[in-house]
Amino acid sequence: MTDILEITDLEVTYQRSILALHGVNLRVAKGQITSLLGANGAGKSTTLRAISGFIGLDNARVNAGRVRFRGEDITGLQLPRTIHKGIVLVPERDKVFTNLTVAENLEVVATSREEGSKWQQIEEEIFVYFPRLAKLRNKPAGLLSGGERQMLAIGGALVCRPQLLLIDELSLGLAPVIVDEIIERLREVHAKTELSMLLVEQSAAVAFALASYGFVLENGKVELEGATEDLRSNQKVLDLYLGTGSTGRADYLANARRRFEERANV
Ligand SMILES: Nc1ncnc2c1ncn2[C@@H]1O[C@H](COP(=O)(O)OP(=O)(O)OP(=O)(O)O)[C@@H](O)[C@H]1O
Ligand SMILES: [Mg+2]
Repeated sequence: MTDILEITDLEVTYQRSILALHGVNLRVAKGQITSLLGANGAGKSTTLRAISGFIGLDNARVNAGRVRFRGEDITGLQLPRTIHKGIVLVPERDKVFTNLTVAENLEVVATSREEGSKWQQIEEEIFVYFPRLAKLRNKPAGLLSGGERQMLAIGGALVCRPQLLLIDELSLGLAPVIVDEIIERLREVHAKTELSMLLVEQSAAVAFALASYGFVLENGKVELEGATEDLRSNQKVLDLYLGTGSTGRADYLANARRRFEERANV
């Protein structure tokens, strides 16, 4: 199977000194959905942003390692050039323009496209995958629920016609019923288009519902990888991410606490 994305020995620092990734190795097979699981602070968002291009403000840089996309070395390539290559990220935060309506949000993202073809795609593709968005088309995005915002962000990403879709925290903070709906919609998108995806999740249940292969990131390193059916029965995954064990749970809690304190200090 060809890999659309291949990351080797990736090291990333923030502010020249904080080492967030310590040599990450992972791959996304073309046409497949791959998951990246990990606790708070493991380096999931950093990995996705290293692929899609860092935004200057973070003062983040790739120190070592390589990112290859469709065989081409794109290490350090910045936005919006990564989008032009076909890599589109649905970020963890700030995923929609709150002052714009749903329709405007979908329309603004594909700046370089001709109006007619863009609207046709929005009507015939995005509003078909997400009928809920069609009903909300004239509503400001700031008034949407978390789940509706996530759908809008995914819809906007699809308008860019990606070859690789990266989603940071698909389910975080959303009600289970809306998570199920989003999972269903993404299944439909995948069945129709075979779009390659890399999904970052803290919930193994959500990751495994969609992905055929997965990686587990801990403290900036991949500690485990495998086919979803193997990960499902792995003791460490059961302990940490499916909430059915207890050994390791203390680590998970300690990590979450540390992360909360870091955020509180910002
Ligand atoms: N802008 C930043 N400046 C400095 N350090 C950062 C920055 N962003 C992340 N880090 C650090 O890099 C490490 C990895 O963070 P990252 O956000 O990638 O983790 P994550 O797995 O996405 O966590 P979460 O589940 O909380 O989103 C953490 O130790 C974090 O404190
Ligand atoms: Mg994150």
